[in-house]
Amino acid sequence: MNKLIIANWKMNPATVEEAVALAKAEDHEGLVICPPFPFLEAVGHAITKATLGAQDAFVESSGAYTGEVSPEELKSLGVQYVIVGHSERRRLGETDELIAKKMAAVAALGLTPILCVGENRAEHDAGKSEEIIRRQLEIDLSLVASGQSLVAIIAYEPVWAISTEPNAQADTPENAVRMINYLRQATRDKRQEIKFIYGGSVTATNAAAFLSHPELSGALVGGASLKPNEMAIILKAASHYV
Ligand code: PGA
Repeated sequence: MNKLIIANWKMNPATVEEAVALAKAEDHEGLVICPPFPFLEAVGHAITKATLGAQDAFVESSGAYTGEVSPEELKSLGVQYVIVGHSERRRLGETDELIAKKMAAVAALGLTPILCVGENRAEHDAGKSEEIIRRQLEIDLSLVASGQSLVAIIAYEPVWAISTEPNAQADTPENAVRMINYLRQATRDKRQEIKFIYGGSVTATNAAAFLSHPELSGALVGGASLKPNEMAIILKAASHYV
């Protein structure tokens, strides 16, 4: 199977017209487009080859939760993938305990969670990367691990490598492979079908260097996913490798 590219548009673009134009320009097999919530329906109608993803979901299916969006509501719009535990949400106060509930809620509905784990710069510099991602993983998967078989994607996303961070720089493909092997090892006893991908400053220039490694099943792309020209090159690299 070809590599999977997840386009995380974050809180972009500003209008539904721009979102539809961007979706049409990027529409491609093997691409999961995660637009902001208000644009999910329009993007869902605009794409014919790509798949629809969401950037978050709440833990309950309905009720008095002002501002939240349930996995059921997302599913009714054709969403198949949900990013869970992105570092930009963790930074706003999302805990591993809440992320574990989100993982369970999303998986219970048959949607595929894309769980993001990764250490920050201080943790990286202190040599604690493995310890941090192991702890995140243990808690984040704790509610789905028992009895339920899980289809999921786990993204190794070192926070320091995300393009909007100060002095951000992509990880090296070699280290990304090493960390993904570590994550694979840490989840090997679970009855789960997990694919591992890398995220953090993936661009047209370095995509092939990551995607050429068989250990990586794809990439999570933020900033570059807003540029159709860059995406065309990244998607070409993705379809080149299996
Ligand atoms: P980036 O973002 O590709 O702009 O580094 C990745 C992400 O945060 O998902």
